[in-house]
Amino acid sequence: MHMMTGATGNAGAIVVREFARQHVPIRVLARNPAASPWLRELPGIEVVTGDMRVPESLGAALDGVDKVLMISSPRDDMVGTQCRFIDAAQAAGVGHIVKLSGKESGTTFDPQAFRGTRWHLAIERYLEESGLAWTHLRPSQFMQFYLPGSLTGVDARRGALVMPIGDSRLSPVDIEDIARVAVAMMGADGTAGRAYDMTGPDALSMAEVAELITAASGRPYRYEPVTAERKRALHAAEGLGPDVLDLLDEIYAGRRNSPDSRVDLSAHRAFGVEPTTFAQFARRHAADFAAVVSAA
Ligand SMILES: NC(=O)c1ccc[n+]([C@@H]2O[C@H](COP(=O)([O-])OP(=O)(O)OC[C@H]3O[C@@H](n4cnc5c(N)ncnc54)[C@H](OP(=O)(O)O)[C@@H]3O)[C@@H](O)[C@H]2O)c1
Repeated sequence: MHMMTGATGNAGAIVVREFARQHVPIRVLARNPAASPWLRELPGIEVVTGDMRVPESLGAALDGVDKVLMISSPRDDMVGTQCRFIDAAQAAGVGHIVKLSGKESGTTFDPQAFRGTRWHLAIERYLEESGLAWTHLRPSQFMQFYLPGSLTGVDARRGALVMPIGDSRLSPVDIEDIARVAVAMMGADGTAGRAYDMTGPDALSMAEVAELITAASGRPYRYEPVTAERKRALHAAEGLGPDVLDLLDEIYAGRRNSPDSRVDLSAHRAFGVEPTTFAQFARRHAADFAAVVSAA
């Protein structure tokens, strides 16, 4: 029996739908399944209640499970949450954990200078030292974070992509691709002890991202480079708290300081997944990029 956590989140919701689409059964751990009724509608998906941080809540959830896809929120409790879950999984007899990790695509991005990647490295090390079989899947920035309403900074009302990263390039990856790789990886032998970096197929400047959104949506978007201070003020006005503002400051600084971006399609190739270009992603979401504007 295979299980995944994090199925109600940005990445996990797309991953669990891919399991259902491919008719691959999986058990899903959710803290509050009632808040996500759509989960129970998915064919082949067994939903169980439990909290990754509370071992006593995981008995039934982990019963008979041999392999887990582990996902949780990129917040300051991520290390504690995932390490406690690793302990509980091991105690329950799970043999293999596939960790959805993360790695920036910037060629000179320092993973220790950004708390998100620092947390992932700490969890990866804990998992490796646990004695369990492990696999790390390390995507770069999600393409979905360019959708209007997300944190990244597409202001659809003004047709602006507002970012404090100058001319640096990024290689965002479509979560749909991550989902296909994750489903294949969960069913594959020979992945234990391996880390898979995964970017999208294009290293793009923010100006190029804005051009691709323009071409797909038919509405002009432009890149608006701003200072770190201005971006922090905009995020603060969106209601983000100091911890998230500090986290974002770090990732933007790291991206500013790393102008070039890697493209690594080895995970796509290893699991036979066709890489989605940003142009394809933007066309798929053309209505999202246009709709907010027409409603404004
Ligand atoms: N954003 C990016 O561009 C990017 C790039 C690469 C990697 N990543 C990594 O991808 C991972 C997932 O990110 P995301 O944006 O999908 O996160 P998210 O939207 O916050 O989703 C997190 C999921 O984990 C669940 N969860 C959190 N704490 C839990 C607990 N104690 N017990 C059970 N479930 C718990 C949440 O459930 P609830 O519904 O109960 O809260 C939710 O389903 C993160 O580790 C992030 O660092 C992100």
